[in-house]
Amino acid sequence: MRDSNMCLRALAACLVLASMSLPPAQAAARRLPASASRSMPQFVERNGHFALMVDGAPFLILGGQANNSSNYPSMLPKVWPAMEKLHANTLEIPVAWEQIEPAEGRFDFSYVDTLLKQARAHGLRLVLLWFGAYKNTSPSYTPSWVKRDHARFPHLVNSKGETWYALTPIAQATIDADSRAFAALMRHLKENDPQRTVILMQVENETGTYGSVRDFSPAAQTLFDAPVPEALLRKFGKQPGTWSQVFGKDADEFFYAWYMARYVGKVAVAGKSEYPLPMYVNVALRDPINDQDPNTYSSGGPEWNVLDIWKVAAPDIFLAAPDIYEPKFDVVMAHIGRFKRPDNALLDVEIGNKPAHARYFFAILGNQGLGFGPFGMDYTGYANAPLGAGPMTDEGLAPFAANYALLGPWQREWAKLSFENDVWGVAEPDDGHQQTISLGRWTATVTYGQPQFGPTKPAPLAPDAAPSGGVLIARLGPDEFLLTGRDARVEFSLTEKTADLHSMFDRVEEGRFENGKWVFDRMWNGDQTDWGLNLRALPQVLKVSLATY
Ligand code: DGJ
Repeated sequence: MRDSNMCLRALAACLVLASMSLPPAQAAARRLPASASRSMPQFVERNGHFALMVDGAPFLILGGQANNSSNYPSMLPKVWPAMEKLHANTLEIPVAWEQIEPAEGRFDFSYVDTLLKQARAHGLRLVLLWFGAYKNTSPSYTPSWVKRDHARFPHLVNSKGETWYALTPIAQATIDADSRAFAALMRHLKENDPQRTVILMQVENETGTYGSVRDFSPAAQTLFDAPVPEALLRKFGKQPGTWSQVFGKDADEFFYAWYMARYVGKVAVAGKSEYPLPMYVNVALRDPINDQDPNTYSSGGPEWNVLDIWKVAAPDIFLAAPDIYEPKFDVVMAHIGRFKRPDNALLDVEIGNKPAHARYFFAILGNQGLGFGPFGMDYTGYANAPLGAGPMTDEGLAPFAANYALLGPWQREWAKLSFENDVWGVAEPDDGHQQTISLGRWTATVTYGQPQFGPTKPAPLAPDAAPSGGVLIARLGPDEFLLTGRDARVEFSLTEKTADLHSMFDRVEEGRFENGKWVFDRMWNGDQTDWGLNLRALPQVLKVSLATY
């Protein structure tokens, strides 16, 4: 009896050890019971809050995007170890038209099947990126039979009458062929992924056209001189007329955005009619602050200034997600501001992979972001520097991995809080200056570069060369908050200060979530609370209860 108890204890210890050695996010993914609900993933909106529902509950994408040419079985062994090191719960990876339909009507899903099988074995979900007629606006990922048939799949024509590099979105043959291929992919997923390994589809990749505000071909000109569609007039509260009459100086870009969105919308509908996974588009970003000539960015793509047009023309696309490669704080925050809208949930599953980008995890989640994903996260040896970092290494992954390790074990709880409660978050600014977060009755003041002990120093005079800090807060009650983050000091005060009312900590608990339940580890008090709550690079989660005297 005694022996068998010992055996059982040893076995239990082994199981605990085995689960401890898994990266937290993957351990959480693997904890899903075999009978977990296999309901369709979907985007939902309630009271102005959004969620990506996966297996029937809000899910936070802790993603990593593979390099562009990593979408082959031979490359996958260099992708999975990076995902593991990253503590990712989701891999974002292309499926290219050229690889699934090498000859018209003949489909080859061998890569997709390998991908599904291996993703499941690694406990990862998938976001598939459909590289159809538009990849960074160009048709480079179309099959040869599309690339070479200019008569059937026409390019656009620029204002000088020159044939331009991109395919025109007004050609019905291109819409039909792209839609057929995408629908075939979705049908294949429906038949081969009852596990819902794939949770989200990106339709095309960075649509629009560089260097020509629109198509000026005779066929396009006829459409341009025709009346603006009724639905768009309603959206903008405009009187009928041609594109120029209705939209004046914006007519060229607005016209092109309408037809580009209509194209993508039709491809999405064809796919959804086979298998209605949630769908989004990504955006090659224009200047978020200043005016910019549309000839100098991807005109027609879902830029912030034409998002209203996209919403009308492509209603089956749930959201437009910004591809943020800029590392500068003010610019990043402006991009976030442009894409977090009541009609557009924030999702950033394509952000640069320099260490300076990692801190934006906190700003994105704090703005109710549904997911985060740095680009180029595999060990294939390719690097998109200077846009991004050098070839990916364990060291390069580390700042992103630390953030995922912090949230991974309770991503479901965070996603639920973000959907149902108020959440806030900030990233360290380039100049290291302090930030305040208004929590209603309470205000949180966040400072960076502070020691853990001693009074708060003024903001550093020299900019921080490697800003890494960030803070996340979620409301648990009127005076109770969940707090986490890294490399930051957080102090709470009353928003309305009066001479005889002062704030104090009632309790500061450090703990963790296990199977959705809060587990108390210890109280923070004394040195740990006298000088604000000082978060380091450790995965620390605090429950803070505030009071007055
Ligand atoms: C943005 C695109 O969406 C990515 O696929 C990639 O081409 C990067 N630009 C550059 O590395």
